[in-house]
Amino acid sequence: MCGIIGYIGSKEAAPILLQGLRRLEYRGYDSAGLAIQDGDTLARVRSVGKIENLAARAATEDLPGGVGIAHTRWATHGGVTEENAHPHTDQSQKLVLVHNGIIENYREIKEQLGSEHIYNSETDSEILAHLIGEHLLESTAPYTKEHLLKAVEEALKQVRGTYGIVVLHKDIPNCLIAARMGSPLVVGVGDGEHYIASDATPILPYTKKMMFLDDGEIAILTQDAIEIQTLAHELIEKEVEEIEWSAEEAEKQGYADFMLKEIFDQPTVFEDAIRGRYDVEEGVGKLGGLNMTDDEIKQVRRVIFIACGTASHAGMVGKYAFERLAGIPTEVDVASEFRYRDAVIDEHTLVFGISQSGETADTLAALREAKRKGAFVRGIVNSVGSTIARETDGGTYIHAGPELAVASTKAYTNMVAIILLYALQFGRAQRTTLATGQRLLNALLELPQKMNRILEQSDAIKVIAETYKDYEDFFVIGRGINYPTALEGSLKLKEITYRHSEAYPGGEMKHGSLALVDESFPTIAVMTKNQLYDKMRSNIEEIRARKGKVIVIATEGDDRAHELADDVIFVPETMELVEPLLNHIPLQLFSYHMAVALGRDVDRPRNLAKSVTVE
Ligand code: F6R
Repeated sequence: MCGIIGYIGSKEAAPILLQGLRRLEYRGYDSAGLAIQDGDTLARVRSVGKIENLAARAATEDLPGGVGIAHTRWATHGGVTEENAHPHTDQSQKLVLVHNGIIENYREIKEQLGSEHIYNSETDSEILAHLIGEHLLESTAPYTKEHLLKAVEEALKQVRGTYGIVVLHKDIPNCLIAARMGSPLVVGVGDGEHYIASDATPILPYTKKMMFLDDGEIAILTQDAIEIQTLAHELIEKEVEEIEWSAEEAEKQGYADFMLKEIFDQPTVFEDAIRGRYDVEEGVGKLGGLNMTDDEIKQVRRVIFIACGTASHAGMVGKYAFERLAGIPTEVDVASEFRYRDAVIDEHTLVFGISQSGETADTLAALREAKRKGAFVRGIVNSVGSTIARETDGGTYIHAGPELAVASTKAYTNMVAIILLYALQFGRAQRTTLATGQRLLNALLELPQKMNRILEQSDAIKVIAETYKDYEDFFVIGRGINYPTALEGSLKLKEITYRHSEAYPGGEMKHGSLALVDESFPTIAVMTKNQLYDKMRSNIEEIRARKGKVIVIATEGDDRAHELADDVIFVPETMELVEPLLNHIPLQLFSYHMAVALGRDVDRPRNLAKSVTVE
């Protein structure tokens, strides 16, 4: 995800900014840029690709000056081009801005600014720069920092969405203005110099004294002072905190591993995934990237999800959701099988390729095969500009941000979120009622808070995981839409604990695998309150009767869960179709804590790679 670093002080800003960008590389990015003010000159350099490309460009220019802002961009609105890289300028080309987040109403703002505004990028961020510049014109030049502050305040009152911004103006020396709503910003407090960044990492080499902005706060930085105030212009006394993190710890934002951080990122990135992609009033999913006419959508007779590993489990949730909401026959194909089995595909088939990396060789080859056979082929991808994103004829980015741990967690959540919205979009065009559509969307909107309720139980889940760490074999069972959850939970357990684990639909155990159950072979069972609750109870009874230990994932308030289980982890109640967005989280935490207890390298499990670009 995008990164920001800004500096104001008496040193040369350029080397500090470039070094800061390098330290932000771990967040993932596809282009970068910086702007530096020196007296009454303003220089801007941008480049696609690695920071070293930007550094090489910067080296050919004379870039003196002690005030500057810089940015690494991870594309959301608009492709990976130099024009779309930050900093962006306003109409006067004198104001520069870096922005993390998404301005949801950028189209409205653009319309309101009128046709005399000329834009050089496809980004929502450039429109925000123009809006601030437009408000600055309401003051009389020569402009001061108070004028710029007022312009920022006025512009932000009009904005809907999320932002972490830093603004600098050519004619206003010794001033950086930053504001936060939903995208983190940290102020680094130095002596005669100050820093602002999207996290502590790029600031740590210079100072450990930091102030963390909260949503709705603005920071006004000069060389000698920092003022923090609200959007409504009220001054705030902000505590300066002393950070003890090492640089690596800072990248992990205080979490012990990237995997744990990414598990805890889920409520936030889930919101990023669905933002602006639904309409509660209409009870419908609104994913723009499908590139299909209403007629083409109506022609779809069959949906196939093609993916590998975790992504294929997300596709399996899609099978349940598409069949239930849209009544369209839906299959899930593991890409490495699909590509060689001469699948029957025609022009009424819609194929979704799901991939976090967008580079998985088997998925890519299978999608090419489906395209060759005349299907509609669309992508559900995390990495912007990746090969699958480019080769499919449309689709959706899942906005999970960079996922650095090998075991996928937050990308899975966002894949499922997008697939549910697609199922709703197709469902409303077929047979889903307005009331069901609205109920589903309202259930989705309640999820971040419910996810947090599960994450709060991390320490309790750790205690359970440690109890089971010496068992060698596990079953993970679920039924209906929770069967994919069982598959995903089982894969996580295998990947990072190296323990043997098998996933089954609960009703399938008695057809053979039950023979393995005894007191040394525990089962984790997803038994939330849905239409298959009683069936699942019976399946668990069958395991208990064979002396199998059972850990149950149950719905809050289900006191009867204790009758069946050695250990219970409770999750909040939600609509059945939405359960896969909650029930996998305790399984992620269970695997994580067990792997830590066993001393595994959680982020880099043996024998595995993050991006599988070979067959
Ligand atoms: C498991 C995991 C893998 C990937 C699979 C597909 O935690 O991460 O199973 O899901 O290799 O990768 P992508 O989604 O990049 O195509």
